[in-house]
Amino acid sequence: MDMNGGRKRNMKGHVVVISYPATGHTNPMLQFSKNLASRGVIVTFVNFNLNHRKVIQARESLQRLKLDIRFECIPDGLPEDDSTLDSNINPAVFKHMQDNMDGSGLERLIHRLHASGDTPPVCCIIYNSFLPWVRDVANKLNIPQALFWTQSAAVFSIYQHFQNGEGLDCGRMPQNVIIPGLPELKLTDLPSAFMETSGSINYYLGQLEVVKDASWVIANTVYELEPETINSLRSTSLPFLPIGPSIPTSFLQDQNAEDTQVGANPWKAADCMGWLNKKPPLSVVYISFGSILVISDEQIQELAVGIQQSGQNFLWVIRAPPGHDHIAEVLPAGFMEETKERGLVVDWCAQLEVLSHPSVGVFMSHCGWNSTLDALSLGVPMLTLGVWTDQPTNSKFVTDVWKTGLRMRRRDDGIVGRDETERCIRMAMESEEGKQLRNNGLKWRELLKSSASEGGSSHSNLNAFAQEIISKAK
Ligand code: UDX
Repeated sequence: MDMNGGRKRNMKGHVVVISYPATGHTNPMLQFSKNLASRGVIVTFVNFNLNHRKVIQARESLQRLKLDIRFECIPDGLPEDDSTLDSNINPAVFKHMQDNMDGSGLERLIHRLHASGDTPPVCCIIYNSFLPWVRDVANKLNIPQALFWTQSAAVFSIYQHFQNGEGLDCGRMPQNVIIPGLPELKLTDLPSAFMETSGSINYYLGQLEVVKDASWVIANTVYELEPETINSLRSTSLPFLPIGPSIPTSFLQDQNAEDTQVGANPWKAADCMGWLNKKPPLSVVYISFGSILVISDEQIQELAVGIQQSGQNFLWVIRAPPGHDHIAEVLPAGFMEETKERGLVVDWCAQLEVLSHPSVGVFMSHCGWNSTLDALSLGVPMLTLGVWTDQPTNSKFVTDVWKTGLRMRRRDDGIVGRDETERCIRMAMESEEGKQLRNNGLKWRELLKSSASEGGSSHSNLNAFAQEIISKAK
């Protein structure tokens, strides 16, 4: 199938796409690869030992779509038999990928691809910012490079604003921040690294260094969501190309019914459709905090009591935190039994399918950028609980700019309490304000759908990028 409306194109350009090995990065980059392949570009998608097996599960769905994406694996130097080294949850993996790795494995792979003659020469390397050494490989081999930005334009703009602030002292940040193209932000709206004194901010600011050598910054965002920010970034000649939302096209374009999944799940997805089918329209609170965030036992217990007090149906994606074998050990005694008629607790689900289901009324989310785009794409309002990295900024935009969510307020100890949880759920599910949030969400859904359709902003940017790659290969 040609996902781009049935037109056949000659396959000429060949790109290498390499993603940091965590779900929030591989998902949008794999979907982006599918969108390129459907426009006639050959893609070699590069994994690490750590995540190769999980990502190549996607092969099955790609074969159905007849897309030319080839998977390769390069060594990451991590022990192969250590099950705690899950890149979705282990901070040591992040450090290793940044500090210990070099580009020799990638370089060897590209030489091998060129020597085999199976594909045309690589004419662009596309990578995301947590793999800074890819820049050196592209420079050494004289291959054009593109940064794939997995977060919002606002977050890019914030990091860029502070990037030149030599020796940024996070202990002495101003309480309010004014950045061109952005609404006035409080310190607490900035990515969490600005509040940490550990020095982690240097990683986040440093990741933008690679932009100097990038011919494109391909961003998983949508022009219509962040026009002022994107205009402001472009006014500095930054080649910023919004191509999002990078989710399977069946959720955005009615004609592409077969492109339903990214296909690389970090955990087995539970089948929740039968359960959802039995629930009335807009009656279910869907709760998920993505693939990385570990929330404290106390926070889980407060949420559980609040959810129970709200009396609403709920589908909760949550896995046992480290130190526990099963989530039931952390949930309040009796919770599973008392809520079994109206609640379902699973490790992982097909989130886009769940959000598309008519029974789902609201999404309680950590506001990871992919989850935020999932909710906006499907028109589902959010209850936001952003805590880490870009999540507070996403939460600010969802609640105050796009006005399709309510922020869950924290107590002084940082916990969202049971009564606040109940209040927010009731407000989203039962009040006029909740209806307004849903109506706003549906407007964003329409805008995102049209941006992904023929003639829309993201669709046109994808076409233009693919054309440029193909013309480079001639
Ligand atoms: C991480 C950071 O936490 C986030 O802040 C940053 O923006 C991206 O990297 P993650 O925690 O995994 O990401 O959250 P998110 O960005 O929301 O990505 C989660 C992905 O997993 C989404 O593509 C979502 O559709 C998918 N998902 C999540 C499922 O398919 N099933 C689930 O049960 C939960």
